[in-house]
Amino acid sequence: MSVSRRAGEIKPFYVMEAVRAAAAREAAGREVFHLEVGQPATKAPALVRAAAHAAIDDDQLGYTMAKGIPELRQRIVSWYLDQYDVVVDPERIIITPGASGSCIIAFLSLFEPGARVGVLEPGYPCYRNDLSVLDIDVVDIPIGPDTGFRPTPDLLDQHLPLDGLVIASPSNPTGTVLDREQLAAVVEWAGHNDVSLIVDEIYHGITFGDVSTPSALEFAGDGASTSAGTPNTSAATSPAQITVFNSFSKYWSMTGWRLGWAVVPPGTADAFERVMANLLISAPTISQIAGVAAFDSIEECDANVERYASNRTIILDGLRAAGIDQIAPPDGAFYVWADIAHLLDPQPADPHLANEVATAGTANATPTAEEQPITNSLELCARWLDEIGVAVTPGIDFDPVRGDRFIRFSYAGDGDEIAEAMRRVAEWTAARITGGSTPSGGAS
Ligand SMILES: Cc1ncc(COP(=O)(O)O)c(C=O)c1O
Repeated sequence: MSVSRRAGEIKPFYVMEAVRAAAAREAAGREVFHLEVGQPATKAPALVRAAAHAAIDDDQLGYTMAKGIPELRQRIVSWYLDQYDVVVDPERIIITPGASGSCIIAFLSLFEPGARVGVLEPGYPCYRNDLSVLDIDVVDIPIGPDTGFRPTPDLLDQHLPLDGLVIASPSNPTGTVLDREQLAAVVEWAGHNDVSLIVDEIYHGITFGDVSTPSALEFAGDGASTSAGTPNTSAATSPAQITVFNSFSKYWSMTGWRLGWAVVPPGTADAFERVMANLLISAPTISQIAGVAAFDSIEECDANVERYASNRTIILDGLRAAGIDQIAPPDGAFYVWADIAHLLDPQPADPHLANEVATAGTANATPTAEEQPITNSLELCARWLDEIGVAVTPGIDFDPVRGDRFIRFSYAGDGDEIAEAMRRVAEWTAARITGGSTPSGGAS
């Protein structure tokens, strides 16, 4: 049996491979500490669940309009007004099966095959993989510690010409956030260079301390206006074409409900709707109906964010104790992007790394001769799962060039589980660095 070139060439989504390996270990009766997947450990908000129960009893649950039910789109309009002081025309809102659905609909609606679309390295892998499967040229834009793992106009300039650019703030895998000034600068850059900008805001609502998450729509200068009725003209010298994604998966703990939305650029909604109707018909009806109640569940969702904040402290302390201290600024989402080069053997000699992080810490690393060499993060992840039952995600998912020396830790899960995982990682790294045998804590 043969498959298409596209299907043959699409890269694995390693997060899901890591999930599969962890599940296989669990099915064999062995313990797993889950830090591999960006999935809240909590249920959907109570009001959402209640609305879903009622919908099963009372509603026909047929198809909806391709754009989604008006009630939900209207609630999203109110959300932009309340949260960001931005007025969005409801016609510009398309309800999708998660931000994943928005990706495919947006990439198809906005870009020709052969268009040049920039993605950040590291960045969410499905942007790259989805663009490639659509024969759109992916332009990799490496970001690193020199810019705090954030895109800047100077950096972006080096990759012109571009037809499009995809960014996320807060970012997966780094957790970094663009503040108002930084986001406004990227929007301005996009307008100035006629680049269609896609901003994935799926982790909005999950930030720590005094970090806040402006929406790119605040800087659009494209007809959206503030509640005071003044057009948003911060970047209006040449307004950027902006598409924003959001989703109920993260802040609202609704990954499996497959519900998200896109705010599409003015004048493109009909095209987006046609693409949506043909490819997917509509997002799951029960989720759309129940999703309306999500906006009345802020207290419950904010309590989850407090739990992430506590998990974040646990993981940052645990990583430091394990000698893993070269990390991107973990401002938001629930991830830590950590350099683990000092745990590899031999040290990677990669010309891309000349100015990169993680030279610090390498001096201590003296893996013993008895150890199997671990030459990249994929192997390290496999070893941790096998030897200590800790599941994490290898960096190559997010950065095919330099990801070999990075691991993404998710702290969306249970705090006690994260604490025990960190204890095991610290024990493992101590044993590896001092040359003792690595512990086999995950045997149960
Ligand atoms: C940055 C980012 N965008 C999009 C998605 C897809 O999310 P969903 O389709 O569940 O809304 C994810 C999932 O982890 C993500 O991290």
